[in-house]
Parts: sequence; structure tokens; C-alpha cells
Amino acid sequence: MVGLSSSIQEYLKAIPEPRYRILKNSTPLSGGIIKRGEIRLVNFASNDYLGLAQDPRLVERATSYAREFGTGSGASRLVTGNSPAYELIEQKLADLKGTEAALLLNSGFQANATVLASLLNKFLHRGPGKSEALLFTDKLNHASLHFGAQAAQARQIRFRHNDLGHLEELLEKSKEQPGNRIIVTESVFSMDGDILDVERVRQLARQHDAFLYIDEAHATGVFGKNGMGLCAGGISRDELVLGTFGKGLGSYGAYIACSQNVRDYLVNACPGLIYATALPPQVLGAIDAALDLVPGMETQRQYLKELGSFLREGLEARGFSTGGSTSQIIPVIIGDDATVIQVARKLEDKGYLVGAIRPPTVPEGSGRLRITLSAAHSHDQVAGLLEALVSTLEEVGS
Ligand SMILES: Cc1ncc(COP(=O)(O)O)c(C=O)c1O
Repeated sequence: MVGLSSSIQEYLKAIPEPRYRILKNSTPLSGGIIKRGEIRLVNFASNDYLGLAQDPRLVERATSYAREFGTGSGASRLVTGNSPAYELIEQKLADLKGTEAALLLNSGFQANATVLASLLNKFLHRGPGKSEALLFTDKLNHASLHFGAQAAQARQIRFRHNDLGHLEELLEKSKEQPGNRIIVTESVFSMDGDILDVERVRQLARQHDAFLYIDEAHATGVFGKNGMGLCAGGISRDELVLGTFGKGLGSYGAYIACSQNVRDYLVNACPGLIYATALPPQVLGAIDAALDLVPGMETQRQYLKELGSFLREGLEARGFSTGGSTSQIIPVIIGDDATVIQVARKLEDKGYLVGAIRPPTVPEGSGRLRITLSAAHSHDQVAGLLEALVSTLEEVGS
């Protein structure tokens, strides 16, 4: 064990200063504000896109569930953790998404890591006379999707980020190869804020007889029919769509929308469902309340869209690129890690908190500020950020 401690120490020492991660205390408040110690900052680093995490209606439902059912579920869903609230919520979700079935899981990470792996274990068909599945993945897919592929020891065929022409080329190239095909991508990309052409990827999946797995973590609450994601309303039996509750829906947890067949399979085979304690009642209460509210939040979604256009246009007019972003996630790519940190610190001094994202979360050389907007932000807060950003980027010569 002495060997383990010293190799951990060596590992930590070798991390360059701008990449060394530490946890900081944060207390989110309403109105897009966060407290760091005694300092109040406007929070542009949270995924609470609709401001629901501070909404009294979610707090009320969460509290009433806790009062009625306690603070813990006590066991996994297959043992005694499957409270009636689960089935109620899953039915609401299936109706809202337009699917046969939905299944709640404890988090998006857990879902991608274990649902994808469970599906791949069936798709891979390893053994004599069987062919390995062909797994096509976007190069910038979230780490949890990579974990899912790795857990199943699947080889990924990576297409260039959000480049469906490249995906098509790779599908064509492997046309004669045996094995099931599965395409895995996000619909709103977490670090770049660009958006997948869902219809086109569906068309490619149909043409090449591929199963489609789409992560809608950052689209849920913000885009699509009833705000339920870009795939809502027409999910086929050969698709699985994942959404989360910890971002636009203001609480915690994840769900998949899929066929009844896939749901039944996962209940029997997915370790993330079988071997994990069910979500606590207060979380189910908050999810239930969010699902009642989100379809009616069109005004907030429209406002969020306007904030996004305002900030992007303001940055671009002053010569700063926001990449391919067309959503509430706006990256300002800087490149060098130390400069990313320097800019983020200076912005903090001016009262604004933005994400300072460095490799390995994003590819080498693409360190960036990640700005996330929320319907809880006022127009003045965003205008203030724009001015502070431009002056800071000019100060450091970026
Ligand atoms: C695209 C994507 N998928 C999945 C996750 C994980 O979701 P959760 O935070 O619920 O674990 C994230 C979170 O950062 C994400 O950005």
C-alpha cells in the first residue's frame, strides 16, 4: 500500500498547475447568483437552464414527498425501492417523449456508463461464429458515453465532431462488414453548444439499419416538443434517448425513453439499475414537479434563446469566435490552459463565474470558457458579462 500512496503522490505532483483540480464551496441562490465564500457572483457556469433548481414549486413537492415517504428509498428498485412515484413519473415521461416506455436511473453518468454497456453486451454477440458490433461515436461525446463503450470493451469508430457527412462515409465504408451497427451521439453538445441534425442522423440510421442512442442531457427542458428534447415526439423502436434531471429540470437523476422491449431487458440486465439504491423520495418529488412545469415554459425557452443570440452576436461582432454554438451553451475557445484560468479569475474579480474548461474534458489545445445561460439571468446580467468578457479578453490579448 505504501507503493500506492507514493504513486498517487507522484501522479498529483506531475499535474501542471492550470490542470490541477480542487473542489470549491458554492451555494447557488436564486436570480442566477452563486455564493463562493462571502462573495456573490453571477453564475454562468451552471446547467440549471430554466432556473428550476431554486423554484419554490419544486422545493415544495420535494419537501412534501420527503415528509410523506422519508428521505431514503432503502433499497434498489428490484428489491423494495420501486415506489409508486417511479411508475407515475415514467408514465408521464413516456407520454411526453412519445415512446412506449421510459426508465429512470440515478444519474446521466450512471445511465450512459451502464445502459450503453448493457446494450453493447447484447449487440456485440461475442463468441464463435459471431461478429463484433460496429459502434459509431461522435469524437466529442461525453465521458460517460466513452465509459459505457469501454465497459463493454467495444471498439469505437469515431466520426469527426457533429460531422454527419463523415459518419455517412464511415457507414458506407463498412457496409460489407458483418455485425450490428449502433450510432451514439449527443443532441446538444455539452462543451461546444452546437446541435445535432436529428432528422439526418435518423435517416442515416434507417438507411444503414443502425440502432441510434442519443444523449439529450443538454436539450432536456430547453429544446423540442414540450421542451422535452429534440427527439421528443417520434422516438422509434430502434432508438434510445437519454435525458437528465440535473440540468434543465433542476434536480437530479436521469431517464431513458425507449421501447418496452429495451426497458424490460435493462430491468433484467443493467447493473446501474439492479445494483444501485433507488432515488430518494424528495428527488422523485422534484422530478415530478418539473415534469408538470416544463411543457408550459415556452416563454422561458424563448427568452433563453434570445439571451443566447444576444451574447453570441455581441462576442462575434467584437471578433471573438463562439464556435458552432447555437444553444444556451456558449464556448469561447482560448487554447492555452493558463490563459483560460487567468481570464476566468479576472472575470470572477469582476463578479462573473464562468466555466474554465481544460483538457482532458476537452481536446488538447481547445481550453475554453464555457458560458451557460439560464432563463433565471436578467438581460442586464448578460450584458454585463459581455462587457466584462470583451475587456478581459482584450486585456490578456486573446
Ligand atoms: C452529455 C452529458 N451526458 C451525461 C451527463 C451526466 O449526467 P449526470 O450529471 O446526470 O450524471 C452529462 C453531465 O455533465 C453530460 O454533459
